[in-house]
Amino acid sequence: MTSGAAEAPLFELDRAVVTFRIGSLLAGSRLVAVNDVSLRLAAEKPEIFTLAGESGSGKTTLARVLLGDQAPSGGAVRFQGTPVAEVIRVGGHKAFMAEVQPVFQNPFETFNPLRHVQEYLFDTAINFKIANNRQQAAEPVDAALRTVGLSLAEVQQRYPHELSGGQLQRVSVARALIPNPKVIVADEPVSMVDASLRMEIVNVFKRLRDEEGVTVIYITHDLATAYYVSDRIAIMLRGHVVESGPVEEVLDHPAHPYAQLLKESIPEPVPEDKAAWTQQITLGATEAREFGQVGCKFANRCPHVMERCRSTNPPDFPVGNRLVKCFLYDNAGGSVTGTFTEERDHGR
Ligand SMILES: Nc1ncnc2c1ncn2[C@@H]1O[C@H](COP(=O)(O)OP(=O)(O)O)[C@@H](O)[C@H]1O
Ligand SMILES: [Mg+2]
Repeated sequence: MTSGAAEAPLFELDRAVVTFRIGSLLAGSRLVAVNDVSLRLAAEKPEIFTLAGESGSGKTTLARVLLGDQAPSGGAVRFQGTPVAEVIRVGGHKAFMAEVQPVFQNPFETFNPLRHVQEYLFDTAINFKIANNRQQAAEPVDAALRTVGLSLAEVQQRYPHELSGGQLQRVSVARALIPNPKVIVADEPVSMVDASLRMEIVNVFKRLRDEEGVTVIYITHDLATAYYVSDRIAIMLRGHVVESGPVEEVLDHPAHPYAQLLKESIPEPVPEDKAAWTQQITLGATEAREFGQVGCKFANRCPHVMERCRSTNPPDFPVGNRLVKCFLYDNAGGSVTGTFTEERDHGR
């Protein structure tokens, strides 16, 4: 077993797979929610790594794997060189949580509506043994709040509904910072927040990366904030990462036909109309069919589909600094390669 050697990556997913059994025990089938996903976050350089994709693409399941809440059914997930299950078995779940902290989608669900918001922050400080009591907790809590542009004085004696969604989401980021984590996994932290307030949250992530050395895994539908804030991005489709690389490369000139569609068609999330929006991007029957599909999960929707896409799952092909899971980029065997990208770039 390896220990947390200095050169070990902060996080490493090595062909991770998460399979769920769905339906009844008899008539049920399997759904591969995370399918052969590999990624590596360097220990030396904190970054903002975005996971983007439609609802039902496996983002939350992948987040739960990173948080140690979901064991992979296949492949490996390592934190500082050691399998996460081992880290938790040896050091305990709380010690691992101190290093890898979650931020959730809806800040109004994170906080108890009947308690003042500082109570939850004090509890966290005491729970993680940052402080022995509430008096001692005041200083680290205030420091965490100042990192997100607030202060204890500002939020003290306030109920959650007395703060804006943006403020409250920043308080949840402050809560996550209290144990001094190395990684924050933020699962759609801006999707319930008014569009005008999203920047104040993602700007906090930049500050965490640049000033606190925290690596942020930012999960989102919102490609605009993803583009603005991320260093790298991975686009997920039905459990697969179909394209990943530096954010400018991927979003300026998406190579995978699905990434192209996503960039062109993804609607701006409208928080007040969450239901309609979710319906629009949740493909219902398409989802189940695509998860079960042999070959590329995008084959039935792809304007460039080739025969082999329907029978064979494409491997990752390097395109510039990216990896793209698409036969269009198979230089060894593809006839369409090159023409395709040239045509697209021409049209811009
Ligand atoms: N515990 C579970 N049991 C069965 N299926 C699940 C479970 N969790 C998630 N899924 C399914 O896995 C797929 C991916 O879900 P999820 O990871 O929540 O995607 P996303 O966060 O991108 O919307 C969905 O089809 C979802 O219904
Ligand atoms: Mg999700």
